[in-house]
Amino acid sequence: MLNDTRGVPVTSNSADAISAYDDAVNESVLYVGDPIATCARALEFDPNLILGHTLNAMYNLLGNTKQSLPDALGPLEKSENLAGTANPRELGHIAAVRAWYEGDFTGSALHWDRILVDYPRDLFALQMGHLLDFYTGNAFSLRDRVARVLPAWDDSVPGRDSVSGMYAFGLEESGDYRRAEKEGRRAVEADCRDSWAAHAVAHVMEMEGRREDGDAWLTQTSIGWAPGNFTVHNWWHLALFRLDLGDMDDVLDLYDTKIRYEGQEFVEEILDCAALLWRLELIGVGVGDRWENLSQAWSPLASEGRYAFNDMHAMMCFAKTGRRAETESVIAALEREARGDQTTSRMAREIGLPVCRGILAFASGNYDQVVNELLPIRYDTRFFGGSHAQRDVIAQTLIAGAIRSGHKSLARALLAERSALKEPTKASFTARAMAEI
Ligand SMILES: [Fe+2]
Repeated sequence: MLNDTRGVPVTSNSADAISAYDDAVNESVLYVGDPIATCARALEFDPNLILGHTLNAMYNLLGNTKQSLPDALGPLEKSENLAGTANPRELGHIAAVRAWYEGDFTGSALHWDRILVDYPRDLFALQMGHLLDFYTGNAFSLRDRVARVLPAWDDSVPGRDSVSGMYAFGLEESGDYRRAEKEGRRAVEADCRDSWAAHAVAHVMEMEGRREDGDAWLTQTSIGWAPGNFTVHNWWHLALFRLDLGDMDDVLDLYDTKIRYEGQEFVEEILDCAALLWRLELIGVGVGDRWENLSQAWSPLASEGRYAFNDMHAMMCFAKTGRRAETESVIAALEREARGDQTTSRMAREIGLPVCRGILAFASGNYDQVVNELLPIRYDTRFFGGSHAQRDVIAQTLIAGAIRSGHKSLARALLAERSALKEPTKASFTARAMAEI
């Protein structure tokens, strides 16, 4: 038994394997390089490296698609076959990955937490728990999971600044914007590649309506971002700032050159594409044939249901392009999932189905139904994951639906609430909607 770079015990006699695993974890938290390839190197040094197999399994689970489950199962079973030699930390990883695989997000979050109570310097467990808090929209856990481990991270521990980047996002999602910005800037100053930390600061600026600051911050920090799927999300944030600033040509250019690209496979990326096109259409900006092109990327994901937040974006695409078989398939998949008893089932049942029906109703011009589906769940949508900024598309759809169905007093009330939280710009959705009522 040896220790990793942060002094956490690993079942392996190969220092090279552990060193390569540490490299994979560092790449993972910074969203740089290729953690899977680096992890493969670790497994060449030690094919029985349990944490290598659990990392591999996790990387196939992160998009939360049903489609990737078979690829996760192989490495998960390898780690389970090695459980007899595992230390308590590694048994925790195996249990957390198994729960995630089964769709038991709540159980998985608890397993990651138990690991962190005993091994607060387990950076991969921290990142996975953090991402799961994001996928389940648990803002306070996003913040507190990181706070619980901070006393174990003095400045000498490798990766300390990445922990600040995670803390920044947790603080932002739970509304502590000043401390969030401070922690995020600290992480970016320490390592300009930390696109997760840069992202957390961008979220602060988004929530506070600081569009020029957000534009400047992302433009400036983009120089440090390594190519990778998270970079697309940061370009998406830049597009949101520019949308509010009224630079629609720039927004479409960002979409065409940075956000959407041929051969795009990561679901998180095509999700951002759909979210941006939907927002543009809500404010009356034509997007040409971009929906048609994007629908082709979503086509293999029409029968998912595992993660309703993904399905909402698939539905946007299929509904906008009139793909009736696919829209029915999304609803049917969610209905199937809703009959289960896992976290993913509850997400599908309570949020995914009404949201997807609302999106479909909007695209079909059934605006009364949009209000009926979305109004009752508007304070619960956080449970199906994503950030405040991402879920805002549901609030915008509800308001647009209220206006178009003649529920102007409702729209006025919702817009008053919205303006009180963030000063609208002339080009913003809020100002445009206010001009319509
Ligand atoms: Fe974001």
